[in-house]
Amino acid sequence: MTLVSETTPIRLRDYRPPAWSVEAIELEIDLGIDSTEVSSRLTLRNDPQQSTPLRLDGEGLELLAISLDGRKLEAHGYRYEQGVLEVHGAHDGSVLETRVRVRPAANTALEGLYLSGSREHGFLLTQCEAEGFRHISFFPDRPDVLARYTVTLRADRERFPVLLAGGNPAGSGDLPDGRHWARFIDPHPKPCYLFALVAGRLENIQRDYLTTDGRKVKLVIWSEANVIDCCHYALDALERSMRWDERSYGRSFDLDVFHVVATHDFNMGAMENKGLNIFNAKYLLADPDTSTDDEYRAVEAVVAHEYFHNWTGNRVTCRDWFQLSLKEGLTVFREQQFSADMNSASLKRIEDVALLRRTQFPEDAGPLAHPVRPAEYREINNFYTATVYEKGSELVRMVAGRLGQEGFRRGMDLYFERHDGQAATIEDFLSALGDANHIDLAAYLTWYSQAGTPRLHAKGEYDAARHEYTLSLSQQTRPTPGEPDKKPLPIPVKLSLFGRDGQLLPLHTDGEAQGDGAEKVIVLDRATQRFVFKQVASSPVPSLLRGFSAPVVLEYNYTPDELALLLTHDADGFNRWEAGQQLAMLAFDTLRDGDDSVACRAWCKALAALFEQDAMDNALLADLLTPPGEIEFADRQSEVDPARIHAQRETMQHRLAEQIGIDALLARYRALAADAGEPRLDAGSQARRRLKRCVLELLALIDAEQANTLAARQYSTASGMTDRLAALSVLVRRRAPQAASALAHFRERYADNPLALDKWFTVQAQVPDEPALAVVRKLESDPAFTLKNPNRARSLLGAFASTNPSGFHRADGAAYPYLAERLVQLDALNPQIAARLATAFNGWQRLEPLRRHAAQQALESLARHEGLSPNLSEIVGNVLK
Ligand code: ARG
Ligand code: ZN
Repeated sequence: MTLVSETTPIRLRDYRPPAWSVEAIELEIDLGIDSTEVSSRLTLRNDPQQSTPLRLDGEGLELLAISLDGRKLEAHGYRYEQGVLEVHGAHDGSVLETRVRVRPAANTALEGLYLSGSREHGFLLTQCEAEGFRHISFFPDRPDVLARYTVTLRADRERFPVLLAGGNPAGSGDLPDGRHWARFIDPHPKPCYLFALVAGRLENIQRDYLTTDGRKVKLVIWSEANVIDCCHYALDALERSMRWDERSYGRSFDLDVFHVVATHDFNMGAMENKGLNIFNAKYLLADPDTSTDDEYRAVEAVVAHEYFHNWTGNRVTCRDWFQLSLKEGLTVFREQQFSADMNSASLKRIEDVALLRRTQFPEDAGPLAHPVRPAEYREINNFYTATVYEKGSELVRMVAGRLGQEGFRRGMDLYFERHDGQAATIEDFLSALGDANHIDLAAYLTWYSQAGTPRLHAKGEYDAARHEYTLSLSQQTRPTPGEPDKKPLPIPVKLSLFGRDGQLLPLHTDGEAQGDGAEKVIVLDRATQRFVFKQVASSPVPSLLRGFSAPVVLEYNYTPDELALLLTHDADGFNRWEAGQQLAMLAFDTLRDGDDSVACRAWCKALAALFEQDAMDNALLADLLTPPGEIEFADRQSEVDPARIHAQRETMQHRLAEQIGIDALLARYRALAADAGEPRLDAGSQARRRLKRCVLELLALIDAEQANTLAARQYSTASGMTDRLAALSVLVRRRAPQAASALAHFRERYADNPLALDKWFTVQAQVPDEPALAVVRKLESDPAFTLKNPNRARSLLGAFASTNPSGFHRADGAAYPYLAERLVQLDALNPQIAARLATAFNGWQRLEPLRRHAAQQALESLARHEGLSPNLSEIVGNVLK
């Protein structure tokens, strides 16, 4: 059923090169909060093969003046209707001039030019990706139209002392009536989605940077005055990113100045506008009193991500939005490599694989499934997904693994050499990587065009007489919407074999594998295939898909003992964690049908033993002690009862805590807590905090009173946000008597700190089970709550609907109509955020019948609602399919 308005989708196969492009654009912008006037002068180019009239995109623009080649156009010379300006009489070389009015303060969608903060103190800024530029001026708003930008900003000097646009500064000065101007010229042609401006009262910190090719670059971070001291960490991270890209990819920065700006009003994480990155403050500001350790790492990662886009995204951009993963998947991959180099490689891999399983696997398994390169879309903003970003990165990782470090670098060099200054495709990318290495990578294209997570089935057989081990692999991908039949994919399987004593065995194959000694990569590229290993002394335990060498679900019939062996003996942190996760899954599956299981005992015993080991790394131990999340467990069930999953996961943790024992937990907690004082950010200190939180959570399951007392003390003595929030979370989740006063204290202490206050909303929205909905409803009446600020809306509604399964999926289904109602309200303000929050309904078809019916009803009535945005309609329509 579809009650949602049916617009025709945009299809990849319909791509045509632009009939009209723009060689140069000169913008003159007179800024004002209520009214801004934008004058544009476009020098046009026409493809002689295409005789279509000039059509430019423009959304909600008040057209004040229009002229072509110096002549004012009469009404019959143009038509502006439904987002398109059609102009008659233009030819190659024509100059089109327009002047339009836009209204920044009225722009609640935060797309185009808008106001961040209050009318009195806020500042103006832009967000153009994907199609925001058409809300500012008329333009062929598509990424394959690259133009040279000259931008002149004019504004009241008192209200807007700082005027910024992308590119190099090219003059500034005074104007009559207290106004001033500033000009920027960007020498690098760019698509309009990379245009940006910022204007207002902002402070900055800065630093000079010398590139390896000898360019002096000024790095400047801007924010409102009260948080400028929280920008130093980001500036350091930026410098590290720049050095790293020079060292690892030979790429350096290409303008004289690089601006970065923080805003509290932002739809996404951050944006890579050429020379003027704009960040959600959540991913730029870092300070021990406000930010957790995880947030520090997120700041470093996002700063790097946006910086890396300067080459993967800006210098080489995308031909069309279907190619989005060309820049996003690749840039996520580059960020992952960077973060692995800066911190612990195995912890980073654990974090990223957990994220993939929590966000992308469910997307790929439900009605919103789409390929990394979608074949069609209605609203492109709905395709900034975990699939395009995270799975896209996994695809680059597979190809990079196939080529090896040097081969991948050779391929990337060729990619930049061939496509610098162009708008490229995923085929271009794979061809460059392949050509540089004389390898045909075309088979990997199927990974880009086919949705769904493949299942990799593996079976081992040991022939004791011949000392041969045969591994039979097969793959199968379940149908996804619109794709009933799936093709086999190349699946690289990195593997090792372990003896039953826990020793790695040397690998001998017939030469079909790459790798050395005890670790090799075999590639399954058919539906089924067998691989034979020779001279295997005894029946081995295979460690498969090491490092998560392909984004698949592995199905191998491990016994609990075999997984416990890998968990205990593998030298690699990631593989160890992975064995523990698999064992936990097995424990979960078998626990379901009885009150205890061999697998659960094996999991508890192996972890309790690791807990005792002095040599164990604290951070890795914390990750090992954390079972897969409720969403990951749900992903394996054919019929989902979120309350039961929550309870059963907790049972597992309870058993684990008992196995380790109160005394050992308490002793460890005390040892970890002894090291108080100034919060330090080094890896060791972060690891101690991480393990401390984990130990406290386990303790809370078997000795609530003692744990609550410790948590309350930790809350009040904490020297930084990591410890404070961990303690608060334990108190709130366990519904400790001390929770109320801690919450009140936090609310007051951080009344003027939006990023900290977001966490206050979130920690309460995550309280498990039935009480959550009432908590969320009550928090909505807090004066600090507003749907207008995306971070705040996400901190309450997003945290509730998307990260609290047992709270959102109540047995009575009452949270579904509640969320639907909020989505309608939010949609009227900000369609992008409404659509994003609506994805919380993904997976409703697999809920047990009572919840399923309630969810369906809420969704159907939402779909019937008149006047939903295209963004929200598309998600609701698709999720109902
Ligand atoms: N390109 C940005 C990034 O670094 C994301 C911007 C997406 N914005 C949007 N409205 N869809 O990932
Ligand atoms: Zn990006």
